[in-house]
This record gives sequence, structure tokens and C-alpha cells, in this order.
Amino acid sequence: MYLRKTILATGVAFSALATASFAHAEPTAEVLHWWTSGGEAKAVASLKEDFEANGGTWVDSPVAGGAGDAAMTVLRSRVLSGDAPAAVQLKGPAIQEWAEQGALADLNDVAAAEGWDDVIPAAIQDVMKYKGDYVAVPVNVHRVDWIWANPTLLAKVGADSAPTTWDEFNALADKLQAAGITPVAHGGQPWQDATVFETVVLGLGGPEFFQSALVDLDEDALNSDTMKAVFDQMRKIRGYVDADFPGRDWNLATAMVMNGEAAMQIMGDWAKGEFLAAGKVPGKDFICAATPSENGYLFNVDSFAMFNVSGDDKVEGQKLLAELIVGEKFQETFNLLKGSIPARSGVSLDKFDDCAKKSEADLQAAQEAGGFLPSMAHGMALRGHLAGAIVDVVTAHFNSDMSSDEAVSRLVEAVELAKD
Ligand code: BGC
Repeated sequence: MYLRKTILATGVAFSALATASFAHAEPTAEVLHWWTSGGEAKAVASLKEDFEANGGTWVDSPVAGGAGDAAMTVLRSRVLSGDAPAAVQLKGPAIQEWAEQGALADLNDVAAAEGWDDVIPAAIQDVMKYKGDYVAVPVNVHRVDWIWANPTLLAKVGADSAPTTWDEFNALADKLQAAGITPVAHGGQPWQDATVFETVVLGLGGPEFFQSALVDLDEDALNSDTMKAVFDQMRKIRGYVDADFPGRDWNLATAMVMNGEAAMQIMGDWAKGEFLAAGKVPGKDFICAATPSENGYLFNVDSFAMFNVSGDDKVEGQKLLAELIVGEKFQETFNLLKGSIPARSGVSLDKFDDCAKKSEADLQAAQEAGGFLPSMAHGMALRGHLAGAIVDVVTAHFNSDMSSDEAVSRLVEAVELAKD
């Protein structure tokens, strides 16, 4: 354990000096996060308990708002006013952006003591490191391309499983609608529109198209008939949601599936955390299925970055938190509650349910088939301004009667402008 080693080393080196402030530095961490829904709150509480059980003082700074848009606004103003929180839920290229600003502390001593290079998969290490230094720690692997379905409602129209192609999806949704059932539970917020959009890009275009369009921002892919077909499918899905969708939080959409008010939700597996927090049983009360695609898997790795702070108590707090997060115990406990799977390799999935096991198996298959791809909607694929340019067009299209042709030309234009 890093902390024990540090305390020992500190004791030997400084016993003669007995510097009061150092000897009494108690680990403290202000933690900025956006985990406020039922399942999320349970998961983050497990981290807080672990931290406190190890002598830490946890200062909670939750900022409600799915996918963290509001939390990132608060972060920017906190850093600008010289008052950065110690630990911040941050992910993907945003970690690199903050590191470039010189805002992040390096965690190399904890990493070396804990052997992170051996237990964090290489692809995830790349995201957590800036110029070779660890500046963040991974919490989990969420999968984005899921359908969460209510089996009782599906059975009403004779379906016993989720659709496996987008044509089947539409046929099932048409049947549900004809039976007076809302086919799709959706929350009309830009990031939720983008979540649905990227699963359709993956499904209709395939993994290579996803990579070209939403990761490489290739103009030919963006300006293609496939992209038009994606917008056509988005228009269809718009027809399958209820009238009250604008502004609805994602977890309220999940509750609609849970309560039999809608048949399916397209959402990452943090939705499973909601079902579990409500005592629902996978395979019985709800079904999990991948959105239709050929061996695709859209990953979304939550992580915490440690910002530069002063004070031994805060620095020790960051180190303790980082050590616990990568630890095996936390990776199991937290992910059982959160709906995700561990980011650390070698953690047993014995206690996990079939949805988590499917996630792991599909992840392996996708890696072999070249379909393991970063989520655009959840900040894993692109820097903020580039993703924002895409999300704006997706939302403008979903919330109007814009044609697919117009959406495609706006997309091409918005991405070109954002690239400059
Ligand atoms: C995060 C999840 C979170 C979800 C909803 C995602 O971007 O990765 O941890 O539960 O947003 O807020």
C-alpha cells in the first residue's frame, strides 16, 4: 500500500525534525463529480466510505447534470478563480487539455508503488497519462451502446428479446406504438440525443465508418449517404418518443422503462445502476442488449484527475484516493453498483450479473474485430469543441423538422469550422 510505505518512509526521514504540519497531515480531498442519480449516488458513496475508513476526510462537491456538462462549467470557474478542487471526475481528451494547461498533479510515486503499469490496460494508461506521467486514475469501463427493455411490454406485442437490427428495432417500435405503448423512453438533452445518435452511427455505418466519421472527422464519411441514413433513423426514433421528452433527465427515462411507461431506452450501462438501485433483477425485470451493430462496443471510461493544490493534507488526500480507486476492492464494489465493469485488469467478475459479463465478452470480441471505439457523446473520442460542434447539429435536427440532407451539410460545415 502506497500510504503505509509513505508513512514509514516519512517516519524514518523526518523523525528527528518532527515537523508538526507534516506529521499531522490528515488526508483530505474535495471531490467534484456529477454522480447524483440513485445508482450513481450509491456508487460514489462506496468510494467516500472507503476513503473515510482509511482515515480520509471527504469534502463532497456534487454538480447535478447527466454526462457532466454542468460539472465542467463549475470546474472551469473554480480553476479560473484559483480554487481548484483536489479530485475531479474528468475523462478522455479533457484530461490532456487540463494537463496542457499545467493544472494537473502527477501521481507517478503512487503509480510506481502500486504497480499501475501492470494492472491498468495499455489503452487506458494512454488516457490517464500526460507525457508519460500519470495525471488521472480510471474508475471503470462503461459501455454506451445498450438497449434497456421492459420484457412485460415487449411480450404484449409478442417479442421475447430486444431487436438485433435497426429494421427490427423499427418494426418492433411500430408494433408497440400501434398497441398504445411508448416505444422509446428518451430525455431530450443534447448529450442524450448524441448518445442515441452515436449508437445509430455505429450500427448503420459499422465500426470503420464510426472511426472515420466521429473520431477522425473525415469529410467524406461525414458527408455521405450513410450519414443521411443515420439522420433518417434519428427522425424515426424521434417519432417513437413521448411528447414530454424535452429536458427530461436520463434517469427519469430509465424509470419509465422500469415502471412500464415505455418499452426501451438507448443508454449507457449507468442505466443498469438505476435498475439495480431500485431492486430490479436483470433478465427478469429488465433486459439488457447491445444496440444493433457488427461487433461494436462504444467505451466510456470514468476517471478522476488530481488538480494542483497546496497543503500536505490535500496532497496526501489525492494520493490516498488514487490508491483506493485503482485498488481491487474498490474496482469491484463500485462497479457492482455503477453498472460498469472494472478498468483494472484481473478483477474477477464472479459477483457481477450477466449484463456485466456480456459487456466484458463483447469488449473482448470488439477488440479482436476492430470495433472497440471511444464514445463521442461521452467525451472519449474528441476534444470538447469538436464534440460540441457535432452534438449541436444532432440536437438541432432531433428537435426540429430539419431534413437529413440539411443535417449532413450542417454537420460538415460545423466540423470544418471547429477544426480551424
Ligand atoms: C458518465 C457516467 C454517468 C453518466 C450520466 C456519463 O458520461 O461516464 O458515469 O453516470 O454520464 O451522468
